[in-house]
Amino acid sequence: MNTKGSAMKKVTKAVFPVAGLGTRFLPATKANPKEMLPIIDKPLIQYAVEEAIDAGITDLIFIIGRNKRAIPDHFDMAYELENELERNGKTELLKIVQNIIPKHVNCIYIRQAQALGLGHAVRIARPVVNDEPFAVLLADDLLDGNVPVMKQMVDAYDYYRCSLLGVQNVPREQTKSYGIVATTPVNEQIEQVSGIVEKPKPEDAPSTLGVVGRYILTPRIFHHLDNVKPGAGGEIQLTDGISALLAEEQILAYRYDGVRYDCGSKAGYMEATVRLGLRHPEVGADFKKLLEKIVNEEKFK
Ligand code: UTP
Repeated sequence: MNTKGSAMKKVTKAVFPVAGLGTRFLPATKANPKEMLPIIDKPLIQYAVEEAIDAGITDLIFIIGRNKRAIPDHFDMAYELENELERNGKTELLKIVQNIIPKHVNCIYIRQAQALGLGHAVRIARPVVNDEPFAVLLADDLLDGNVPVMKQMVDAYDYYRCSLLGVQNVPREQTKSYGIVATTPVNEQIEQVSGIVEKPKPEDAPSTLGVVGRYILTPRIFHHLDNVKPGAGGEIQLTDGISALLAEEQILAYRYDGVRYDCGSKAGYMEATVRLGLRHPEVGADFKKLLEKIVNEEKFK
């Protein structure tokens, strides 16, 4: 257990790195961040923001890139649109547009001038995070849990008071797409991390426990990120900072309750659209019928 002063603080800040190039989704991501891709009617970033707010986070720190406008615009007031909806008596839609961010929550934007890697994106949040534990959410990982996954992790942090990594088992042939941890089990949900490596080949992976886009980190990570050199893919990797942090602090892996959709990949994005579409209050029932029809038609080809 970490007993330093900062570890006793509550997690109220979340960093959303949204400055990646999103090459797997080109050309859709040429002029728009990947995190603005919608699942039905809400952009990915809004799902992650709602998850953070449900976990008690009050300061949202967005690390934005060269496609800078879309995300702040999404969370700002939209005067013309709101006036228009009001004038036309579209009160339900007006409420949806006005209530994206509750009044007690602040949005802060920091520019990452160059996409040098996730570790670099997190590092530049330092002046705002200061000496506090903080969450990191990668919005292209859409996590669907009965209890929002970040809320599960904040509750775990309140108990263990150390850095936590959201993890899940991945097929061994896919370890080269993840940060992979070496661990020993503490209980059903928690594992003690003894090592972490970014994108290992299947034969080199210390386990098949992959880190997904949810972290709670102690502020000591910034010190280590300052010293991280470009690693896998020539990027400044958050994994390498976490590996250095491990030499001086306990880090736990947290097996969350919920389903993850890797919306940074086309297949994961399409699966999320179908699964959440089937549950959508407005279009779910019709969508199910449509899907059944398509499946039947495709079968007879
Ligand atoms: P990814 O590894 O998914 O990279 O980044 P990417 O560039 O966005 O997408 P592809 O692989 O080219 O398709 C993981 C997360 O880190 C952010 C991304 O926005 C994404 O949420 N990121 C990555 C940054 O904010 N800055 C960076 O320099 C790199």
